[in-house]
This record gives sequence, structure tokens and C-alpha cells, in this order.
Amino acid sequence: MDDERVGSTWDPVREKIHFLRIEAVTERTLPYADNVFNGNSHHSHCQPQVISMSQSTPVNFENRDAIDGLNSLFVERWSPRAFQSYSIELPMLTRIMEAARWAPSCYNEQPWRFYTSTSENFDDFLGLLLEGNQRWAGEASVLGFLVGKKYFSHNQKENSSFQLDCGAAWMSMTFQARFEGLYTHGMAGIKHQEVAQYLGLDTKVEQVLMGFAIGKIGDSNTLPDNLQEKETPSDRQPLAQIWNPS
Ligand SMILES: Cc1cc2nc3c(=O)[nH]c(=O)nc-3n(C[C@H](O)[C@H](O)[C@H](O)COP(=O)(O)O)c2cc1C
Repeated sequence: MDDERVGSTWDPVREKIHFLRIEAVTERTLPYADNVFNGNSHHSHCQPQVISMSQSTPVNFENRDAIDGLNSLFVERWSPRAFQSYSIELPMLTRIMEAARWAPSCYNEQPWRFYTSTSENFDDFLGLLLEGNQRWAGEASVLGFLVGKKYFSHNQKENSSFQLDCGAAWMSMTFQARFEGLYTHGMAGIKHQEVAQYLGLDTKVEQVLMGFAIGKIGDSNTLPDNLQEKETPSDRQPLAQIWNPS
């Protein structure tokens, strides 16, 4: 049987070795600039804690009650609105996009297309967000839009998985952003039609799926009052709510 995980042939020892290899590679590639994202050791039980994501902005993860053994990458990803002024160099942004490139997709179609702002057109991108998002996203380093291709290239048939695949790519880039000491914040609150027009898309074959902000976390005191209240990592439903192991 090819897949060692199937039935009783799954070997947890080999699985563990594989897992450690992944961790070793991950550790090597992590540029721990400041003490951002410190949870990738072999002893990374996911203990909720207060971590200083930058010198001035500690983040409290205490309400995130993940089980022991979960890599803290998952818990220490969240969607802040407070960003600090920070210029993402092109090589770093390129690595973030490269991560999206390696996401899985149906028929390996890779239906995702990412558009990101430059310093020249940042204000245009900002203007394409709904007002509620414009109120905080202006401090992000980069704004972007994720566009999905609706049809398969090999037969021009409808690809019912394109949104799912684009979601996987978005999550890949989000995790690479974390490895770089940055955060992303997804946005459904965008002016979809205007984005399509601005980007010159053919909406018969492409769909604007979401906007996103990338940046370095900032001081929540810089946000308007009602957003300051929300500026804390959210909790989740219990595992039993989303997983039926029977
Ligand atoms: C596709 C998508 C669209 C979202 N749209 C918005 C949005 O328009 N505005 C906003 O403030 N947050 C938006 N969010 C962020 C979610 O509210 C956030 O991911 C969710 O509350 C879970 O919190 P966390 O990401 O901090 O763990 C969006 C997230 C995703 C994935």
C-alpha cells in the first residue's frame, strides 16, 4: 500500500520523523528579526501566552485555548487592524507570494492571481476597500486583491474548486508572512466591481475574491475607539463542533 497512513500500516515513528524534518527546515528559514513568532521549537506545545510581537506591541493569546502539541504558528496567526509604518522589501514580498505559488489545487490549475500595491498605487488600492476597512487598512505596508480563474485551462470547463484553491493559496501566503514577522488581514469588504474594472479583469472568466492587507503589527491605540475594542485575537468553536471523528 502506497500511503503508509492508511489503516494499520501507518507508522507513527516515521510520521514523527517527517514532522521533525519539516520543523527543522522551518526553523532554518525563519528570520527571527525581533522576537516575533517564537513558537517553532521541538517543544512547541501551544501554550497560550503573551508574546511581544514587536517591542511596543505585546499580543495576548491567553483566550486561545489550543491543545498541547499544536504548532503555535496556527494560534499566533490572527488578523490585526493596527499596523505600523513599515516598508516590506521586494525579496520578502516575493517570498510571501512564492508561498502562495506552492499551494495545492484541483488539476494543479493554480487558479489564483494576486495583485499587490506599490507605493505609487497604494491609495488607489485603499480606495477600492469598503469604508469600514479603509478606516484601518491605510497603515498596512501592502494592500492586495486575490482573483480566481473560474475555468480550467486544459478543457475550458467550469472549475468548481477554484475558490477553495484560492483560499489555500491565501493561507499559504499568510503563514509565510508570519514567518517573516508580518501579519495579513483578509477583507471581503471591498468594491468588487470597481476592483475588477481597475485591474482590467474579464469578469466572465475571473472573479475578485477578496482583498488583503499585509504589514507589521502596530499599537492598537492608533485605531479609532470602536476598533481598539476588537483588537485582540479571537477564540474558536470547540473542536467537537467542527470534527466528527466517527
Ligand atoms: C475571506 C475573508 C474575508 C474577511 N473580510 C474581512 C473584512 O472585510 N473586514 C475585516 O475587518 N476583517 C475581515 N476578515 C477577517 C476575519 O474577520 C477574521 O479572520 C476572523 O474574525 C477570525 O479572526 P482571526 O483572523 O484574527 O483569527 C476576513 C477574513 C477572511 C478570511
